[in-house]
Amino acid sequence: MKMPPEPYRIKAIESISLLPRVEREDRIRQAGYNIFNLVSRDVYIDLLTDSGTSAMSDRQWAGLMMGDEAYAGCRNYEHFVEVVRSLTGYDYVIPVHQGRVAENLLFSTILEGGDYVVSNTHFDTTRANVQHKGGIAVDLLTPEADNLQSDEPFKGNMDIDALRTFLADHPQQVKACIITVTNNAAGGQPVSMANIKATREVCRAHNVPLYFDAARFAENAFFIQQRENGYANIPVRDIAREMFAQADGALMSAKKDGLANMGGFLAVRDEELSGKLTELLILIEGYRTYGGLAGRDLEAVARGLEEVTDEDYLKFRPAQVHWLGEKISELGIRVVRPIGGHAVFIDARSVFPRIPREQFPGHVLVVELYREGGIRAVEIGSLMFGAVDPETGKFIPAPYEFVRLAVPRRVYTESHLSYVVDILRKIQDKKDLTTGYKLIYESKYLRHFTARLAPMAPAEQDAVVG
Ligand code: F0G
Repeated sequence: MKMPPEPYRIKAIESISLLPRVEREDRIRQAGYNIFNLVSRDVYIDLLTDSGTSAMSDRQWAGLMMGDEAYAGCRNYEHFVEVVRSLTGYDYVIPVHQGRVAENLLFSTILEGGDYVVSNTHFDTTRANVQHKGGIAVDLLTPEADNLQSDEPFKGNMDIDALRTFLADHPQQVKACIITVTNNAAGGQPVSMANIKATREVCRAHNVPLYFDAARFAENAFFIQQRENGYANIPVRDIAREMFAQADGALMSAKKDGLANMGGFLAVRDEELSGKLTELLILIEGYRTYGGLAGRDLEAVARGLEEVTDEDYLKFRPAQVHWLGEKISELGIRVVRPIGGHAVFIDARSVFPRIPREQFPGHVLVVELYREGGIRAVEIGSLMFGAVDPETGKFIPAPYEFVRLAVPRRVYTESHLSYVVDILRKIQDKKDLTTGYKLIYESKYLRHFTARLAPMAPAEQDAVVG
């Protein structure tokens, strides 16, 4: 299997270097064994996220110089609106500085305590914003997704039967349905056009507005072109338009498929709703023609949105992620299948089967990646989502012990990713010598960001295993 050549060449570079091993050991210890506490200059290959980490094109950088920094009505806002309208078909376009602000604006406007929002899977910030307004976020993911190793093409889909039943059982109580494309929290899996259309039909029948969480819409449209019957010869941009045509609006973090380092929008068809959203926007984010962004940022996003549906770019991007996933599989490490659009999700239990889940095997892998190779990744397992039952004191593991290797857009080359594979091979070779971790400090909410941990002493480890 070969990675295709990058459809771009390098014009500016940013130096990176690998700290000596003793210093990496020192840095990770000082960080309380939490990679969120590391400073970026101490990281060699950063796969923490694909959000806000894209390399911009020469066209985008040139666009920055065209920033019109007028308070009201800057020309970049006009360009931004024109691009978003032509892509989505939604008339009312509200710029925001990142995706979660779009979530806050929408849910603050449409939700009251006890209302429901349903989704194929809410991303963490989406769920948190629903809950912050007193709403209840319900995930209705296709049961196909339960089998991590199967190769069904659209494991990000909504469970249509479950949606129908839920909407019938909760009349007037569901205020929005959100389709997340691609489905980040479910392994970066795509949603098919057929599923999007079926979701729309059910939502219509129950008068529930449908929105996209469109952070990775272009990757989703590309997967439809590649995998769904009847789309092979349709340009990705047209597929994206057809997707957007099914819904009433979209929330977008432009830090992903906007190919920008900051930005986003909320776009809707409904004029009255847009009026309410704009009032709140002005209160919490900025005037309606800049929404928390500089004119130059609006220009970078507008140009990024034009570039992201380029077919050459899209032939490379998921292929690069796929290449990484296949090479990792060849080491005998289990990864979520099919390999997603923006990241490889490793099942850490296949690397460290002996480490009990309450000692965070995913976290062990994250620390080893840094220790062995200066690589930063993120655990999506029991450190992030595990809990302790307050009554019995028993540990409740997360559904999976994943480590996500998110690949920033247009940033790393084949040799960088091959280095990551080599480091994983080294970790595999030493896996029997590796111990688990225990928590020394944890906060009440979102503990993975601030937790401090310590390695278990081998004797403690054996006691638990025994
Ligand atoms: N929706 C999805 C599907 C996301 O993946 C993210 C962010 C957001 C919304 C929120 O957007 O960060 O611009 O406010 N995902 C990042 C990640 C943080 O690493 O997956 P934001």
